[in-house]
Amino acid sequence: MDLSRVEKTIQGFIESLNNVSVNEMYKKLPKGKMLRARLIKMIALDSALGDKVAAIIEMIHLSSLLHDDVIDEAATRRGEPSINALYSSKHAVMLGDIFYSKAFYELSSMDEKVAKSISSAVTKLSIGELMDVELANSFNEDAELYYEMIYLKTASLIEATAHCAAIISDKNEDDYKIFGKNLGIAYQIIDDILDVTQDEKTLGKPAFSDFKEGKTTLPFIIMHERVDEKDKKYLKSLFKKELAQDEIAWIKDKLNSTDAIKFSKQKAKELAIEASLKAKNNKELLSLIDGMINRSY
Ligand code: FPP
Ligand code: MG
Repeated sequence: MDLSRVEKTIQGFIESLNNVSVNEMYKKLPKGKMLRARLIKMIALDSALGDKVAAIIEMIHLSSLLHDDVIDEAATRRGEPSINALYSSKHAVMLGDIFYSKAFYELSSMDEKVAKSISSAVTKLSIGELMDVELANSFNEDAELYYEMIYLKTASLIEATAHCAAIISDKNEDDYKIFGKNLGIAYQIIDDILDVTQDEKTLGKPAFSDFKEGKTTLPFIIMHERVDEKDKKYLKSLFKKELAQDEIAWIKDKLNSTDAIKFSKQKAKELAIEASLKAKNNKELLSLIDGMINRSY
């Protein structure tokens, strides 16, 4: 898929700011999968308006990752040093603010429905990130809280992306919102599975870091539900710890023997099927869903 026009639009937004540091830091950001821009193109087809909406959403996404890496104290992003590691947390916070406010400036001259959909999603994703931080204070055993948090943190912006693509191309808005919401929740579940199944080289960031950061993701919640009291206690004793190899091996063994990974993957697949039902006439979207579920990083 040709995303060069979206990239050029983002580049244009950045250059119009006329700031050497911003330009320099932007060039150091590794390119991601641009899932949100792809969705716009697949749903709304090629149009200048689609490029602009995609550029705005990708800039908001970039700003949220810049802030997230400060919050998570992440040294790498997509296999490259993060901006907080390369420059400082202050730089990452401010660059995030610059991207975020520029994106909102551009959004302010768009159709009101598009502006409202995206801006309310950004409030949701910020509340989701706060919830993620707060849930990490203690071992979260509640799957419902996890689903709510990942909907807010990740799926809300994907839901808004699909919604806006439907608005600008006169397609069924409710169908595409449901599509985006399910795709987004499935996406984050897969992300959380990969953290415990893949190695650092494949992921482009340290593996097995969620649990150490206090993030009791779906595989951990399910494993916890399914083990006996003694193992529950042991699992909780490892919470937020720098894990030794034998401790990681114990967790991996339990994640497999309780079918916690299998259950989580199944859950993501069910959500992907829900998403597919709303996108059944769009071959590109169906293959994107398939690729998302079966990805390795
Ligand atoms: C990545 O999650 C983080 C998000 C999807 C959302 C982050 C949102 C904010 C920081 C709110 C601020 C928003 C703006 C627009 C300034 P993760 O840590 O689970 O994934 P990772 O492993 O890729 O870091
Ligand atoms: Mg993070």
